[in-house]
Amino acid sequence: MTARRARAVAHPNIALVKYWGNANSELRIPSNGSISLTLDGLETDTLVVFRADLANDEVLVDEQRTSASTEARVGRVLDHVRGMAGIEAFARVESRNSFPSGAGLASSASAFAALAAAATAAAGLALEPEELSRVARLGSGSACRSIWGGYVEWLAGSDHAGSYSLQIAPAEHWDLRDVVAVMSRQAKAVGSSEGHDRARSSPLQPPRVADAPRRLAICRRAILARDFEALAAVVEQDSDLMHEVMATSSPPLNYSLPSTTALRQAVPAWRAEGLPVAYTQDAGPNLHLLCLPEAVGVVIERVRTFDGVVDTLHARPGGPPRQIEIPNRG
Ligand code: DP6
Repeated sequence: MTARRARAVAHPNIALVKYWGNANSELRIPSNGSISLTLDGLETDTLVVFRADLANDEVLVDEQRTSASTEARVGRVLDHVRGMAGIEAFARVESRNSFPSGAGLASSASAFAALAAAATAAAGLALEPEELSRVARLGSGSACRSIWGGYVEWLAGSDHAGSYSLQIAPAEHWDLRDVVAVMSRQAKAVGSSEGHDRARSSPLQPPRVADAPRRLAICRRAILARDFEALAAVVEQDSDLMHEVMATSSPPLNYSLPSTTALRQAVPAWRAEGLPVAYTQDAGPNLHLLCLPEAVGVVIERVRTFDGVVDTLHARPGGPPRQIEIPNRG
């Protein structure tokens, strides 16, 4: 029997128009569509082996057993893949991150994109990216977008078939950079999944969702036209709207440290000086500074010396997940 094993590497992404709140949490059908940029440099590398001798799925992340909730999410993706491929064997999953997980760097996006790519390949399925994005979505919403390189849109849809991602433009289309101001390496107290559930308690969530098609259209156009000013305005507004929903949820959510707020306030002033830079913040204290290549040196310099910044990362537009050959042990 040929071994049912495959290995894949995938990248995280930074949302330019955010996913926050689910219409269906079980299937991770989001309340609104979103747009992201896949990031190079950072990655998750995942090996999946389906083995007839296993009594249950085994999941190792950075060589450690994971939480029951992560195991359940991995199991959900594996069950779906087993159903599609008509196989029953349990799987051993070994996953490694090249960056700290749980620190607001969206490791779940690269993790579940790599899992979807490796598990489907190990099960003998050759899926189109649209279909692969649906599989990844079942594990983590933002993973739906890491199935493509470059600039990606996740169409919210209203059921499993209708909720998938598409590429707006490949990585080569526009050399936008992401300088991440790392404010803390600690895992966040309230994870995104819990945050998505809380979104429905905010009176600001319905107007944020209702306005999403407008922001998506502006963002799509700005990407296609490589219009940094237009992108900066919509990206900062979209990030602020999400954090206002968080602040007005019951109980409220605040992912910012004082240094996050201070840097967020400094960036528009830098842009007014002529520096092409814009901020966006996910469900964590780190701030992502999107900028054009010519601004990277100055942005890194300013961020490094900013009070409260413990590290900086610099990412370029990245590609789609890729399979890694596994040497035959035979
Ligand atoms: C703020 O994809 O991490 O980064 O579906 O529960 O895994 P789950 O949530 P996740 O949420 C990401 C939220 C965000 C915005 C975004 O990436 O669009």
